[in-house]
Amino acid sequence: MKPVRKAVLPVAGLGTRILPAAKTTPKNLLNVWDRPILAHVVAEGRAAGIEHFVFIVGRGQSAIEDYFDHAFELEHNLEAKGRSAILADVTADLLEPGQMSFVRQMAPLGLGHAVWCARDLIGDEPFAVMLPDMLMAAQPGALSQAVAAHEAVGGNIVVVEPAPTGEAHKYGIVALGGAAPGFDGRLKQMTGMVEKPAPGTEPSNLFISGRYILQPGVFDALAAHARGAGGEIQLTDAMLKRLETESFHALEYVGSTYDCGDKLGLLRANVALALGDPHGGASARAAIETLLNG
Ligand code: UTP
Repeated sequence: MKPVRKAVLPVAGLGTRILPAAKTTPKNLLNVWDRPILAHVVAEGRAAGIEHFVFIVGRGQSAIEDYFDHAFELEHNLEAKGRSAILADVTADLLEPGQMSFVRQMAPLGLGHAVWCARDLIGDEPFAVMLPDMLMAAQPGALSQAVAAHEAVGGNIVVVEPAPTGEAHKYGIVALGGAAPGFDGRLKQMTGMVEKPAPGTEPSNLFISGRYILQPGVFDALAAHARGAGGEIQLTDAMLKRLETESFHALEYVGSTYDCGDKLGLLRANVALALGDPHGGASARAAIETLLNG
């Protein structure tokens, strides 16, 4: 079985839910506690063994490329001033030469179209898709958990989690078959997917969160450029097509997800990561308590 070495990170969406903040700053560079959302997600990918990150970008997003590259003047200044701890923190996020590629989506035609744009760079091997809006705090990371599932059962892996009570109809929900051995029963054969099922018709309460491991055959399904919900080229439609011939498993991962494409989700992520920081957590808690006690 080929290992999962490459990840596609689609960042070319318009980010309407988080405007005007995302008007001039790519939304994935908005901050969560100590670094941009995207830096947290790339760190999760590196921990899972990803060697090459393929960013699907739109216009005005060149700051993403700069973030993962050297900033020689800044680094030189920090070094000259003896600010070695900050320098180490800044350079910790740099990717190695050859570890990142950028593909222009040119028009935001949907998540499926964004993934399809990576077809030549992925080639004929399984790959990860990481939705960078979704900050998934977990130990081991969500993608590491998915890679372990892929090593166990192969095929396609979709990371899922329980929808809030009574809200399953707002999400892409999976239908499940039998459990695979191990994984405490959290790895199950996936038999179907339905986008925003009518209340009461949900096949489960588990929704597709933000990490996938896909086989390259999905590019054949995406090549049809079929428009789905909202007039967009949907990744779930292409996955449904592949489900006819390929194995899919849903992994209920262990961790906490924050949807940073939404103002409240971004706030929750900031508070959660601040409180969980072994160095700054106590001061963050004191600051939040002061605010709450007015
Ligand atoms: P979203 O559904 O969050 O869409 O996309 P969006 O446009 O970013 O945000 P809203 O809903 O308008 O606020 C999920 C992920 O897929 C990427 C987005 O950047 C986001 O990371 N995406 C979506 C693309 O790269 N291209 C697209 O055409 C659509």
